[in-house]
Amino acid sequence: MSSEKTIVLITGANSGIGFETAVALAQASADLHVLLGSRSLEKGQKALDEIYSSHASSLLGSLSVLQIDVTDQPSILAARQDVETKYGKLDVLINNAGIIVTRPTDALTNLRETFETNTFGPAIVTDAFLPLLQKSPHPLLIYVSSGLGSVTLRLDQHNEYFRIRGNEYRMSKSALNMLAACHKIDFAEWGCKVCAFDPGYTVTNLTGPEGRARRIQSGARDPKEAANALADIIQGRRDDDIEKSGIVDLDGGVKPW
Ligand SMILES: NC(=O)c1ccc[n+]([C@@H]2O[C@H](COP(=O)([O-])OP(=O)(O)OC[C@H]3O[C@@H](n4cnc5c(N)ncnc54)[C@H](OP(=O)(O)O)[C@@H]3O)[C@@H](O)[C@H]2O)c1
Repeated sequence: MSSEKTIVLITGANSGIGFETAVALAQASADLHVLLGSRSLEKGQKALDEIYSSHASSLLGSLSVLQIDVTDQPSILAARQDVETKYGKLDVLINNAGIIVTRPTDALTNLRETFETNTFGPAIVTDAFLPLLQKSPHPLLIYVSSGLGSVTLRLDQHNEYFRIRGNEYRMSKSALNMLAACHKIDFAEWGCKVCAFDPGYTVTNLTGPEGRARRIQSGARDPKEAANALADIIQGRRDDDIEKSGIVDLDGGVKPW
C-alpha cells in the first residue's frame, strides 16, 4: 500500500544544498517524509542526528536516511527496493549529488569521474526510480544543475563567471540539462513535472575545505537560499517557471539552456 505522505528523495543530502533542503522540507510540512540520501550510511546518520539536535522543535515532517551511491548500480537498486517496500511510491526525486574534481589529474580521469557522478548518476537513478514515480499522484523530478552548464551563458562575455574554466564540470551539467529537457518531454504524458535547477554560487563542500573558505570570503550564498527555493518548487510555488524553457533559477525565472 502507498504511503499517505509525500515521499521526497534527495541524493547527496548529508552535505551542503541537499542537507539544507532536507531541513527546509522537514520544516515545511507535516505531510512530507524526506529520504536523506547519502552514499555513506555513517555520514547520513550523522547528518540526521545533526538535524534532530539543531532543529527538533521546528520539524513538522519526518526524515530517514537512505544509503545511495549514484555511481553504483547495486546501491541504487537496493535503495529503490527499500523505498518500494516501505512506501510503495516516490513523489519527488531530487537528483542533487554532484562533484567537482579538484585534485590534479589527467583530463580523461577528470571527465570520467565528473560525468559518472554528475550526469550518468542522475540518469540511472531516475531510470531506477521511474516505476515508483509513476505510482505517485503528483510526480516531480528535479535535477540540481548549474548555470555553468548553460551554453548561452558560457558565450556571454558579460556573464560574471566568464573567466571560470572548469570545462569538465560545465560539460557534465550541460549534458544534465539535456537530460532534464528530454525527460520534460518524455514524462509529460504521465503527468510528471521535470526541471533543472540552478542553486547559484553557494557555500558548500563542493570544492573541499579550502574552496569552502574561498566561497565564504567571496560572498557566496547561504545554502538555505537554494534549499528554500527547492522547497518552493516542491510546494508548487514555482510551477510557472517549471513550464518555461530554461534552467529554473533560485531567484525566480529561468536561465537560458
Ligand atoms: N555549491 C555551489 O556553488 C553549486 C552551484 C551550482 C550547482 N551546484 C550543485 O549542487 C549540488 C549539491 O552540491 P553542494 O554544492 O551542496 O556540494 P557538497 O556540499 O559537496 O554536497 C554534495 C553531495 O553529493 C554527494 N555525493 C558526491 N558523490 C556522490 C555519489 N557518488 N553518490 C551519492 N552522493 C554523492 C556528497 O557526498 P559525500 O559527502 O559522501 O562526498 C555530498 O553529500 C551538486 O549537484 C552541485 O553540482 C552547487
